[in-house]
Amino acid sequence: MDVIKIEQHGRVVTARLHRPTVLNALNSEVMTELVAALSPLDLDPDVGCFVITGSERAFAAGADIKEMAAKSFAEMAEEDFFAGWEGFAALRTPKIAAVRGYALGGGCELAMMCDLILAGESAVFGQPEIKLGVIPGIGGTQRLTGLVGKAKAMDLILTGRTMDAREAERCGLVSRVVPDERLAQEVAEAAAAIASYGRTAVRAAREAVERALEVGLREGLLFERRTFHALFATEDQSEGMRAFLDKRAPRFTGH
Ligand code: HXC
Repeated sequence: MDVIKIEQHGRVVTARLHRPTVLNALNSEVMTELVAALSPLDLDPDVGCFVITGSERAFAAGADIKEMAAKSFAEMAEEDFFAGWEGFAALRTPKIAAVRGYALGGGCELAMMCDLILAGESAVFGQPEIKLGVIPGIGGTQRLTGLVGKAKAMDLILTGRTMDAREAERCGLVSRVVPDERLAQEVAEAAAAIASYGRTAVRAAREAVERALEVGLREGLLFERRTFHALFATEDQSEGMRAFLDKRAPRFTGH
């Protein structure tokens, strides 16, 4: 059975996690398949946005506990377990997580590796690893703290409680919350908008925003300004600005 279903509509590629009997628990096969499917598409100039989604009941209820349960420290360290997820985080095409139902543990971490999280009202977020005797292992302690701050991150990670979509939006984890039945449309529109812009500028924009979480203000502002300058070497910059002055829609080519 394919654990990932890939569909392409126009310039938007959707990857749907598909392990329905275990609420899309993320095992090594999911990680390998997802990275293998999206890596070549990341280089495809006809692809402008990825959407990662799950089912109505679960985006993903975490890393696969069955796969991990019997492992020893030596095995975990030798395999560098979870390191392969870095291949997903490193994709340069913008990624939207479309979340309904559970996004727990590795599921929440997968959503946080995306650039935007759009959630249906049924979405439930949490890092409950402490209840299993471990801690988040795919970036939860780092990315969640960067996104929502220490107070909320400590609350979620130390108590293992979950939060609903509205709370997740209030604290800055989620970009937008919409009724479940509107989520697919909302995501499709956001993805199509992102995919319609100049590819070089879109990639530069997400890299610059990422810098805000990684480096100090001075370095971040310099990176932004130099990247802004560099975009004046692209045809899309002259086309975008000329189109505005001509009062017409721009025709971006990605060059
Ligand atoms: C493996 C899982 C799973 C998981 C659910 N299942 N989550 N299997 N890994 N993370 C399986 C269940 O065993 C069950 O299989 C089936 O999916 C349906 O789940 P139920 O528990 O019966 O459903 P429900 O009662 O609705 O409860 C849903 C739930 C619960 C609240 C999401 O499943 C749950 O608490 N899951 C674990 C959440 C969690 O702890 N996630 C973090 C994992 S650790 P059967 O065969 O019984 O039907 C992690 C990072 C680890 O992500 C990092 C440190 C190394």
